[in-house]
Amino acid sequence: MSTPRSAAWSPDPFATEVCEYLQRTPRQLPSKYFYDELGSAIFEAICRLPWYRITRAESALLARHARQILAPLARPVTIAELGCGSGDKLATLLSSAAERFPLVQLIDISAAALEMAEHRLRAMGLTSVLAHRATYEDGLEHAVRQRPGKASLLVLFLGSNIGNFDPPVARALLARFRGALREGDALLLGSDLVKPERELLLAYDDPLQVTAAFNRNLLRRINDELGGSFDLDGFAHRAAWNAAERRVEMHLVSRRRQQVHIAAGGLDVAFESGDWIWTESSHKYEPAQVLEEGLAAGFSRGEQWIDPDARFALTRFSVS
Ligand code: TRP
Repeated sequence: MSTPRSAAWSPDPFATEVCEYLQRTPRQLPSKYFYDELGSAIFEAICRLPWYRITRAESALLARHARQILAPLARPVTIAELGCGSGDKLATLLSSAAERFPLVQLIDISAAALEMAEHRLRAMGLTSVLAHRATYEDGLEHAVRQRPGKASLLVLFLGSNIGNFDPPVARALLARFRGALREGDALLLGSDLVKPERELLLAYDDPLQVTAAFNRNLLRRINDELGGSFDLDGFAHRAAWNAAERRVEMHLVSRRRQQVHIAAGGLDVAFESGDWIWTESSHKYEPAQVLEEGLAAGFSRGEQWIDPDARFALTRFSVS
């Protein structure tokens, strides 16, 4: 088998980004790499944890308001979900709406998640399902390019995935979504709301330590795919509420002085006891702030549904 010439020259983006992020201050790792096959499976378990309520709150809102969410869209409607995961939420929205959709497009960075989601939707009787293994930005481009000419497009960005970006990046992403859409289209955004610190910390540091396993799995993945030498027992999971920034931060804290080597990037990193790697942030919003951000990004109108316990908001932004 011949290797394409360019392959020899293009460095693995996983290796490049891991090494670049680990050299930042504070040390970081890019969170999109959480979702390999094992990571996606652990994430599905997180969504079922009693302490992690986002998925259930959001699914209940989708089931309850499906009709109102979909009604204003001009027929036929195409739906694209960015970061679809298992596809369960999309299935909930569609089954409650009980109508036909010409095309559903699934976008996720994880092959395992895409396979699960595609299977889930086909099992519901949907025949036109396209799966794109891509980042949010690239996936949205694919979805826009492949929409049927006359169809309106509903983009789903759920799971409070918007909260995983720093506010300026989140703003740029919303503007990017707006730029890709045209009159009659809409964006459905799921955002987790600010709530008591105790509740937030339990959601991201659960007593079963499933979230700890999810976080540390990133080190396991680096060991397996990049020839890393992380000692998994040498790093502890920590969730911390940063009140000033309104975000939960996920860290991996070195339990002792140690040295880590990453063969794929030829990198050595030294850790003192207590040194940490910042792996993820989950920003929490106020409902009014979500509306403001969407309007600032150029959407013409926002309609919002909030669960009875005020834990979570779904906002449909329209373009006109
Ligand atoms: N979008 C999810 C959230 O912010 C992602 C998530 C849930 C997550 N639990 C996590 C990311 C634990 C890293 C670690 O809630």
